[in-house]
Amino acid sequence: LETAFFQHKEHGWISRFPTIVNCLVAQKYFVGRSTDVFVSSLPKSGTVWLKDLVYKIKRRGGNQDHKNDLLSPHQKVPFLELQVYASEDHVLDIDSLPSPRLLSTHIPYPSLPTSLIDSGCPIVYIWRDPKAVFVSDWHFFNEIIPSEPGKNHPPLTINEKFECFCNGYSIFGPYWDHVLGYWNAKKNGANILLIKYEDLMVDPVVQLKALAEFLKLPFTKEEEKDNIIHGIINACSFQTVKDSKMYESGNTELLQVQVNNTTFLRKGKTNDWENYLTPKMAERLDLLTVQKFADTDLI
Ligand code: PPS
Repeated sequence: LETAFFQHKEHGWISRFPTIVNCLVAQKYFVGRSTDVFVSSLPKSGTVWLKDLVYKIKRRGGNQDHKNDLLSPHQKVPFLELQVYASEDHVLDIDSLPSPRLLSTHIPYPSLPTSLIDSGCPIVYIWRDPKAVFVSDWHFFNEIIPSEPGKNHPPLTINEKFECFCNGYSIFGPYWDHVLGYWNAKKNGANILLIKYEDLMVDPVVQLKALAEFLKLPFTKEEEKDNIIHGIINACSFQTVKDSKMYESGNTELLQVQVNNTTFLRKGKTNDWENYLTPKMAERLDLLTVQKFADTDLI
């Protein structure tokens, strides 16, 4: 694989993005608040889109602080695991953020800090067709891995990476276990809303209303009349964000690699995987998904 690959509580972590140590530090030191809102996902499932939507729902209205509006979604809703520094004088920057904090994580549910779970704060989980996640991830890592200073890993071929993905060796994977972790937690009463990327594409109004209600900030009749919902949808649309150059600041420092606009906003479609996967590959992933998600309402 690209770099060292670890397994912790049966989930995969690569050594540098972020390190497993960051996650262990988060488990130990993070202090959750019931007022927090967490955006959670597997990488490449629509995280930045959801971050933007949650930010705009939470910060809408006249009395809100709008000073961060022009930052990238990763700055507005920072990753828990990228804010911790594993050293003796550990620092958790997010401790100093005022409530209500908007935070995010890719950490699988069983590895979340206990304090986060115990706080009962709302967690919005976005998930996506594994064929699309796989193709998006393949592009993303091929683009960023060669930029690691001092190292020049040849990118994995799509076939090599596909074999790994199907066998559960993917970042924060296995894919299916990550989704099932959050799905099961919700089934057992955790305060989680699951949103599917493809549903958000097809019917953003319905999904946005459900999201606002879950966050206990439902749209009022006046807001509906004023087209606030469509305003948010348009402001967070793939093309608007891509044209806005929002990603030109902040990401390098956050992710410790050079990441430009096009890396996070590649195609933004539900079916681009068709251009990369053979029918046989697609069939294999679909079959795995049917097997793994049997007895759930995920399929
Ligand atoms: S990351 O690295 O985990 O934060 O990436 P993540 O945001 O989860 O996933 C990136 C994919 O989401 C697409 N994307 C969007 N689709 C629709 N609308 C909006 N606004 C949007 N923003 C990001 C992005 O293009 C990546 O998917 P692919 O298929 O690679 O285009």
